[in-house]
Amino acid sequence: MLKIVVFVSGRGSNLQAILNVFNSSDNNVSVSGVVSNKKDCGAFKIARENNIPTYLVSNSNDEDFVSYNDLSQLLTKENIQLIVLAGFLKKIPDEFVEVFENRIINIHPALLPSFGGKGMYGMNVHEAVFNSSAMLSGATVHFVNKIYDDGLIIAQEAVDISECNSPEEIAAKVLKVEHKLLPKVVSCFAEGKVNKNNRRVRIAN
Ligand code: GRF
Repeated sequence: MLKIVVFVSGRGSNLQAILNVFNSSDNNVSVSGVVSNKKDCGAFKIARENNIPTYLVSNSNDEDFVSYNDLSQLLTKENIQLIVLAGFLKKIPDEFVEVFENRIINIHPALLPSFGGKGMYGMNVHEAVFNSSAMLSGATVHFVNKIYDDGLIIAQEAVDISECNSPEEIAAKVLKVEHKLLPKVVSCFAEGKVNKNNRRVRIAN
């Protein structure tokens, strides 16, 4: 059983997609917690409806929040094997990344290494893709390192956006791809199929 924690900041449709795939007790992935920087996000509501523990994280000393340091100890104690960033909008502190090296993945709503980096999140990404006149976009799942959207790419799926007339249309097409790709990659981790070799990540058959 792969124990995962999902980090979120928004509505939580990717969290829901994960739960849709791994919602029965006879599968090999358990969503053991949902972490957010935002108290009232939709994703927290989804977590509560599914009886999944929620944690607010920040280094702000606000009493409602746990620090990254305490969170990393908690997740280590709970034997969390994979951290999945699904629309988490804060940069993960370097020390936290070091503790969970090779165990944090992120879904990005474009084909990296294009349209990534600081400030490239949410609709900013789709607007940049739209304005670039690119005919393909898609989703990328990658390892998280200390630099925005820079870790090794684990999986990508492209989508034809040549007929899209707005960034919103691109976002909708890409989101559908995200909802398929992210659970698929999590499943590959659970099956021990994800292998890193130098600068390549391979998923075994
Ligand atoms: C997704 O497009 C994700 O790739 C991006 O933020 C969005 C989050 O959507 N980083 P949701 O909260 O999963 O619905």
